[in-house]
Parts: sequence; structure tokens; C-alpha cells
Amino acid sequence: MIDTYADAVRILKLNDLGTYTVPTHGLYPFQWNWDSCLTALGLSRYDEKRAWTEIETLFAHQWPDGMVPHIVFHADDEGYFPGPDVWRTGRPTPTSGITQPPVAGFAVRRIFDRARDRKMAERMVRALLPKISAWHGWFHANRDPRGEGLVALLHPWEAGRDNSIDWDEAFERVPTEGVEPYTRRDTQHANPAHRPTKAQYDRYLWLVQHFRDLGWDNSKLHDASPFQVIDPGFNAILIRSCIDTADLAEALGEMVIAEANRKMADTGLSALDRLWSTRHSQFLCKDRTTGMLIDSASIGGILPVFAPIGAERAGRIARTIENQAAALRFIVPSHDPADPQFESKRYWRGPVWLVMNYMIADGLRAGGETAVADRIVRSSLDLIRQSGFAEYYDPETGEPCGGGSFTWTAAMVLEFLELQRATPGAA
Ligand code: DGY
Repeated sequence: MIDTYADAVRILKLNDLGTYTVPTHGLYPFQWNWDSCLTALGLSRYDEKRAWTEIETLFAHQWPDGMVPHIVFHADDEGYFPGPDVWRTGRPTPTSGITQPPVAGFAVRRIFDRARDRKMAERMVRALLPKISAWHGWFHANRDPRGEGLVALLHPWEAGRDNSIDWDEAFERVPTEGVEPYTRRDTQHANPAHRPTKAQYDRYLWLVQHFRDLGWDNSKLHDASPFQVIDPGFNAILIRSCIDTADLAEALGEMVIAEANRKMADTGLSALDRLWSTRHSQFLCKDRTTGMLIDSASIGGILPVFAPIGAERAGRIARTIENQAAALRFIVPSHDPADPQFESKRYWRGPVWLVMNYMIADGLRAGGETAVADRIVRSSLDLIRQSGFAEYYDPETGEPCGGGSFTWTAAMVLEFLELQRATPGAA
């Protein structure tokens, strides 16, 4: 345990640039939104002040309308594409123009709950709460303009699950005409066979150019986007963060924030249930432009267990994971291995990601499914011991894929090891 722990801390320090961390040098040389928030959990294990700084830095770049961008380009780096010259969002410090899964509310609550320096924690939370709440409100105003209860993604990068099979059909509607010539950089840092395809990159860039042409005006982007997908996992993260924000606000007497977040969580939770698939025994994405559920059994439909979906649904999701586990050496795969489209090494089309494992295990534990939660934690640590701190892993072989020395992977390892230490016998 000691070596794995020390190695995880070493990687966090390696990628720590003082006020923010990069996910990994080379492939991702800036600050990424949900990477930072989940990384702060790991940082808080050995330096609480530094953990708060990570989240403070991210929120210092929140847009005036409430959006928290998915990348903050703190310093120039030619090694990444698309950089600030492509996004052209006009922010004082350049940022991207889209967002990412809102894990901040959850992360802040968790760091607060276990903080040893209570004074600092309360000061930080008081400063962050209105900002986090504004971001949650931004989602409902701009990504659910007709008040359906669930928010849509306008770009696969917002989900974080860039090339999930979930998006394939909806992505067909995204044109590629007029995409400016470009050179990818990601494939110079990672094995191209583990990354999204050129056809997907063309569409990622078409959407960026389209939104840029609309002046990054969030009141226009939703209706103008040919890609509007409701991801149950993303919405579950928002719901969980709204609940955590409401609880924190209540504890600190911030009743307006508490009430607003409680309401958003309740609305989201009842709408989420409409995405349940009895056939797949998990949730499915919905394509808002067609109004249809997307028949794709990805981890996006397993992740909703992170929200309080009830013991019955949690139990069914646990059984789905057990079924997948029967076909694999490592869990949880980012796509159902029984689907012929499953690809064990290609980014979000099959590989295991430790951040997903962390959130899924956390939700399963809350839903009473501790045995499966423990199994996920063990599988995660087995992967690290076999293959080091990779970006993601082949669930069939455990092969490390994507970038190496990966920050949020290391952060999750600290979380898993501390969990095991705190509850001997578990995991
Ligand atoms: C990338 O560049 O691969 C990112 O996932 C976009 O956020």
C-alpha cells in the first residue's frame, strides 16, 4: 500500500503547477474542469490548502453568465490542439467555450466534510457556494430551455466521454463542410488507435466553429446546435452536486442557495427516471432533437447510481455490472462488452476509467450495494498495481492506454486507498 500511495502523491506533485494541475504533461497541458475537481479530492489527502486552491483557480475563470469552461488555457502550449486561437472566446485568460460534468459541488462537499482545518474549509465553501450555484442555474437556463428537467450536452467534449458510442448516431447530423484545416496533436502524444477518429475530430471542430460563429452566446447555442444529447450520467452528476450544494448551503445558513439547488435536484431526479431501460437494466441517453432514447449501453447509463436513484435501481445496476464483470478481467468498462461495437482500447468505447469507478462505487455503496462497490475498488487497485497510473485501461487485459502519469487516476488511487484504510474488511 505504501508504495502505491507514495507513487500516487508523486504523480500529483509532478503535474502540479502551483495553483492548478494539468491532467498529464504533453497530451493535456492546461487545466481541465472535472479533472481538477476530482483531483482536488486527492490533493486534500495531503494538502488541504492546495486542494481548495485547485477549485478556486478553476472558478476564477467562470464566465459572467455562470458557465465554468472545460479548459482554462493558463499558459501557451503548442503541443495541444485546439488551442485558444481556435476557440477565440475572448476571455481575459483564454478558455474553451463549452463546459464539463459539474462535479465541483460534490467535490467541495466531500473535501469540506472531512476537512481538518474547519475554519479554512468554511471560508472556502462560503466563497465557492454562490459560484457553484450559479453554474448549476446556468445549466438549467441554457441547456434545458424548455424546462424538461434534464440538461443537454451540445458537444461530446462536454460529457468528458468524447467518443462514446452513445453519440455516433446524433453525430451523423453534424456536418463537416467548412472545417478549417488542422493538425491534431493528441495523436503525437498517445497511440492513435486508442484515440477518437479523424471523422469524429472533424465534427468536434465543426461544432466549435459553429458556436464560435454565434459569438459563444449561450442563449443561442442550444437551439442552434445539431447535437443535443441528454446524458443520464452527466445529469446524475449535476443532481448529486445540486444535493451536495443544497446540504452545504443549509449547514451554513445560505437558505436561498439551498432552496434553489434542492429544487433543481428534485426536478432532475424525477425526469432522470424516464431514461431507464428495462431491457438494458440501466439508463440510456436521449437525443433531444429526435426525442428518442439512444439504444447504446454505455457507462453513461451506469453512472446515474451516483445520484440517489433508490435501492431498486441501484440493485439492477449492480447486477448489470456483475454481468459485465463475468466477461472481463477488470471493471467497469465504459461500454457494454456484449455490444459488437465495444472496443477495449479506444478511449470511451470500452476502456475502464478510475474516475468513473470512483463515482459508481460511491453511489453503489450509498444504495446498499457494498459488495459490488468493493469489487470495483479492488479491480481499480489491481489495475494500478499491474499497469501503473494510466489515463485508462483495457478491461480485457489491463493494458494501460492513452496518456501516462495521469493526475486524476492518481487522485482516485489515494481515495481508494484511504477508503480501504478507513474501513478495514471493506474493499
Ligand atoms: C481532448 O482534447 O481530448 C479533450 O478530451 C477535449 O476536452
